[in-house]
Amino acid sequence: MSDTEAGDGRRSSLHGFWSSKLAFILAVTGSAVGLGNIWKFPYVAGENGGGAFVLIYLLCVFGIGLPIMMSETMLGRRGRRNPVASMMLLGEEEGGGRWWGVVGLSGVAAGFLILSFYSVIAGWVLAYVMQSMAGSFVAADAATVKSLFNALAGNWQATAGWHTIFMVITVVVVARGVERGLEQAVTLMVPALIGILLILLGFSAATGEFEMGVRFMFEPDWSKVSGETVLAALGQAFFTLSIGMGCVMAYGAYLPQETSIPATATAVVCADTSVAVLSGLVIFPIVFANGIDPMAGPGLIFEALPLSFGNMPGGVFFGTLFFLLVGFAALTSAISLMEPAVAWWVESFATTRARASIIIGLIIWALGFLSVFSFSLLADFRFLNGTFMDNFDFLTSNVMLPLGGLLITVFCGWVMSENSVNDELNIGQSALYRTWRFLTRFVAPVAVVLVFLHAVGWLDWLMARPIGS
Ligand code: PFF
Repeated sequence: MSDTEAGDGRRSSLHGFWSSKLAFILAVTGSAVGLGNIWKFPYVAGENGGGAFVLIYLLCVFGIGLPIMMSETMLGRRGRRNPVASMMLLGEEEGGGRWWGVVGLSGVAAGFLILSFYSVIAGWVLAYVMQSMAGSFVAADAATVKSLFNALAGNWQATAGWHTIFMVITVVVVARGVERGLEQAVTLMVPALIGILLILLGFSAATGEFEMGVRFMFEPDWSKVSGETVLAALGQAFFTLSIGMGCVMAYGAYLPQETSIPATATAVVCADTSVAVLSGLVIFPIVFANGIDPMAGPGLIFEALPLSFGNMPGGVFFGTLFFLLVGFAALTSAISLMEPAVAWWVESFATTRARASIIIGLIIWALGFLSVFSFSLLADFRFLNGTFMDNFDFLTSNVMLPLGGLLITVFCGWVMSENSVNDELNIGQSALYRTWRFLTRFVAPVAVVLVFLHAVGWLDWLMARPIGS
């Protein structure tokens, strides 16, 4: 398809379109649902004390995340190019200037950094498919699963091997184009994942400390809330929804004009939140019943889940299937992490999709070694927030994605004309539109700025000063 104006005067996409509204919902759901929900959400909630974190996270998801997801989709569809080019074009068109392209560039950079550590964790998931199939978890106790995990994470050759396998699979899929194949796979995968989570929920309700788990997740202890808790919740909301880095924008560029953006964004956010909350409800009862430390960090699910699979009937089958599905969820997110960079590379350097995917894949793979070594050779090399992996994670989730999201809402709320917005959202002056506009112009930008100021301590410093001094 050529990059000319479409028949109705609108732009056309270079890369074609999603075949249906459902295909787009599934693709964005595939991007949103991933390790962020099953691996990261429980351990970040655990590290931040549970209840209060979860409530702030839910507020961030619906009050900030949902309107930003709508905005990002809208920008992608209006620009119909890769995120860098779309933002440059729309910046110019709406009178804000071409420099808005930096939003896209920062997204491309964030994609490199996130995928470099994401692939390492996804590699462990693949290793766990094998372990599960081999029956390594059968009748295991807490000490056994912990030592199995430490043996894998501490062995850099094994971790590097699985990381390489995951990156090769990702590059092959991206090189072949996103639209073919994945649509159907996601249709099967998300419901299957929720199905197994429900089976696990039954198991953890029957055998775990269910009440304690539920209380840990939903009973807020506000005394534990600090600037960092709020920043972590905000970062998690951005990470889990895949917003603030141009991935939703890249996917939005292939969205047919007549599809309703508010409806699709709401569907994706609800699916994503359900998977995260279900994962927490599965994991914490098991954590408390087996004396696992909820602050165990990145190893949390790799300790809690094998315990339940190892001690339930049919555990070898369900365990293998579950880790396979998580691996698949990680893959559909990984391809979306590469898509902005690949689309940008193809359009900017007039190269083929395959070549762009291989080059970008190689850079990310090499960068990934810093995360591979974060659990072995470089485990004691700590700076700022910890190991290399901790820093990549902090920098992307808690700084780059919220900053990208801030610029996106400012653009949609303050720079873009109401006519252009109406053209895309197509909901007139309804209450829904007014809510979106209020959240986009005021709530989301102010909240992100306040969270930043609070996290670096400036807000407390300002509030502690007597007025007039
Ligand atoms: N949302 C994905 C997850 O929760 O695992 C991770 C992710 C994908 C983050 C794509 C950012 C992104 F652009």
